[in-house]
Order: sequence, then structure tokens, then C-alpha cells
Amino acid sequence: MKAPPRFITFEGPEGSGKSTQARRLAEWLRRRGQEARLTYEPGDTALGQRIRELLLHREAEMQPESEFLLYSADRVEHVASVILPVLERGGFAISDRYVDSSYAYQGFGRGLSLEWLREVSNGATRGLSPSLTFLLDLPPEEGLARFSERDRLEREPLQFHERVRAGYLKLAAAEPRRFVILDARRQPDELARRIAAEVSRRWRV
Ligand code: TYD
Repeated sequence: MKAPPRFITFEGPEGSGKSTQARRLAEWLRRRGQEARLTYEPGDTALGQRIRELLLHREAEMQPESEFLLYSADRVEHVASVILPVLERGGFAISDRYVDSSYAYQGFGRGLSLEWLREVSNGATRGLSPSLTFLLDLPPEEGLARFSERDRLEREPLQFHERVRAGYLKLAAAEPRRFVILDARRQPDELARRIAAEVSRRWRV
């Protein structure tokens, strides 16, 4: 049987601690002698940085379709120049957010058609799906409470974040083998242990 691509993503709301857990997993893998490239969306390429500024620091209104297409353009660059080269070398690529963020925020949150999002996303990612996705689930009021300065999406009303959370849970229910749902309110050490155990079990590292 062909080994599944070593592509792992972290998803969840702002303030769920997913960036910390992604970093800890990368460090854990490196300690075990594995190549692990930690990456994120939006913004981990030269063009992606410019797109990130447009997306997160923009004062003027933006149509949800434009928003999604900008995230997708960032993703094209991300897959082509960061993720695929690592996977081709046999390394682990660990991304803080990926297509599920678009389904959750632009699809469930903003109400764009999931069918359209999937079609564009398949093209943007060349069909590359993560083998394993950790969803750090957290009630929105708890995540948002951890921020004082909010960026454009963090300023959305609570109902928006409720839809995003429910959307993530639906995505996870539809693909139970790919998703591992974790309660983000657990202690960081406990979460890190659980994550490492899952990766170890799947790839025998
Ligand atoms: P960022 O500042 O990177 O932080 P975090 O990942 O901790 O939230 O914020 C990225 C924002 O972009 C976040 O509010 C979610 C949003 N986003 C989307 O709406 N769609 C997407 O496809 C992606 C990748 C991100």
C-alpha cells in the first residue's frame, strides 16, 4: 500500500492554540530525525505576503467571492512552491490552515456555494488533500476573548464565528478518517501528546 502523503494540517478558530501545536509537532518530528516544514496560510510565499496584507489589513469592503479567490491564489503559490517540494523529498509539511479554512470561513461563514469552492480549490491545490487534519475546536466566545486587537475577520459578529465552528464540525464528520477533533481548552502539553501519538501511529515515526 502506498504511504499517504506526509501532509498534516491544523484548523480551528483564532485563539485555539493551533499555531503553537503545529510548531510543537514540527519540533517533535525533527527531534525524531524527520524533515518537518512548518508553514501557514495565508502568506508563506513572496506573493502570499502581499495577498495576506490585502486580506487582513483592508479597510474597504470586499466581496466574499474576491476574498475566497485571494485565499485561493495564495494557496496556489503555497502548494506549488512550499508544500509539494517538501512532500516530494519525503518530508512532512505541516500547515497552519489550508482549504478547510476556506470551506469553514468563506463557505459556512459567508455562505458561498461549497460546490464552487470545491471546484476552484481542486484546481488551486492540484488535488492535494491533507492526510491528517487536527481540528482544535473551541467555542467562539472563548477564542475571541483572547484577542484585544482584532483583524478583519476577527471583527465579524459572534454568529459568523458560530457558523464557522459548526461548519468545521460538519467537515470533520464527513471525513472522520482524515480529521481528529481536539478540545482546544485542554492543556497544551496534553494536546501535544495526543497529536504526536496520532502522527506516530499513522506514519510509524
Ligand atoms: P491569521 O492572522 O493567520 O491567524 P490565525 O490563523 O491564528 O487565525 O489569520 C488568518 C485569518 O484568515 C483567519 O481569520 C481565518 C482566515 N482565513 C479564511 O477566512 N479563509 C482561508 O482560506 C484561510 C486560509 C484563512
